[in-house]
Amino acid sequence: MRRDDRPTVLLGVTGCIAAYKACELARALVREGARVKVVMTEAATRFVGPATFRALTGEPVATTLWADPADANVFHTSLAEEADVLVVAPATANTIARIAHGEAGDLLATTALATEAPLVVAPAMNVHMWRDEATRANVATLRARGAVIVEPDSGELACGDVGEGRLADVRTIADAVLVELARARDLAGVRLLVTAGPTFEPIDPVRFIGNRSSGKTGYAIAEEAARRGARVTLVSGPTALPDPFGCATVRVTTAAEMHAAALEAFADADAVVASAAVADLRPAEPSEHKLKKAASADTPVEPLALERTADILAGMGAAKDGRVLIGFAAESRDVIASAREKLTGKQLDLVVANDITVPGLGFASDENRVTLVDATSAEELPVLSKRALARVVCDRLAALLAAPSAKTG
Ligand code: CTP
Repeated sequence: MRRDDRPTVLLGVTGCIAAYKACELARALVREGARVKVVMTEAATRFVGPATFRALTGEPVATTLWADPADANVFHTSLAEEADVLVVAPATANTIARIAHGEAGDLLATTALATEAPLVVAPAMNVHMWRDEATRANVATLRARGAVIVEPDSGELACGDVGEGRLADVRTIADAVLVELARARDLAGVRLLVTAGPTFEPIDPVRFIGNRSSGKTGYAIAEEAARRGARVTLVSGPTALPDPFGCATVRVTTAAEMHAAALEAFADADAVVASAAVADLRPAEPSEHKLKKAASADTPVEPLALERTADILAGMGAAKDGRVLIGFAAESRDVIASAREKLTGKQLDLVVANDITVPGLGFASDENRVTLVDATSAEELPVLSKRALARVVCDRLAALLAAPSAKTG
């Protein structure tokens, strides 16, 4: 249980001459009202002593997975759970590489791997290391996963070279951390309905009409919103994913079941994110028994009669009553124009439009490239991991809820 109400910032300090500036950062964050817990790599302790951070923060300083036998087996996960934000400043090329590759060789890398908290990284290194393709790729990996990179400044470096690589201004890093702390609670108390995954419409007891939706984006949004304080009901079609942490998950199979479960949660919801790929058509009369192969190759094949399913989101749009509604669109042409038609047709506040023609992205992949379309703008996002996309969607959701026309303030 939390000892106090202050948000917890985990400050990772790595082995670099700029490590002394992390002392100023720790002080700035403490002054801003944060509880600051410092994790140092072994190399960092050669530049600044743990006692300095201990004195500045009033908290124990963690330096190794193994220091205290009583704590050793839980240290990495306990720190990871406590963190509201993890900031690594200064971050060396080595630590950036470790985190990007998911290594867990020291306490800081292990904590970064284990935490669900947002990550802020403030690199500091020699200009050639900073510009090296390996570092570029590692930084790009972190950014695509949603990490905030506080770019280093240019100037004279400790090694005598001149160029980019100097740790950013401490105030700039502190501000980036404060923005992440605010974001960490910006959906507090919001009642959110998320629909996700495909629906399966039975043809007979063993066959169905379905689609390739994996549910990953919707699950990531549900989990991100819950992390930021929302009370989330996730209504999910059949997926291979575990229930997301901190959400009430309702599993359904057909469009009709999804409709019923969604309407129940909608009654109490402040906002809806409809990411489910709901079948538009279903077999009109599913067979009670398994359909048999025709007796001979010449026997005519019975056509499958289909009927429309209800458009769940359009129904919620018609009963909107001040709620914020975000829909998804999978388009293969005229992406923005088609998304805008859905926006107005279903009375939505935002459409996440997916260009399904981009090879290797979208359905079943871990990455997406989408355009966020509202009544007045279309924001084309870069290729993002589904988790990073979830963060952006939750940012827009929080902004829409804060807008004066929304039901909740
Ligand atoms: N939706 C829904 N219920 C349905 C169909 C769709 O709630 N029966 C929601 C989806 O969750 C999504 C949006 O509506 O948010 C997608 O709209 P839809 O009209 O189905 O568009 P697409 O399937 O993308 O494409 P098309 O225009 O070809 O139908």
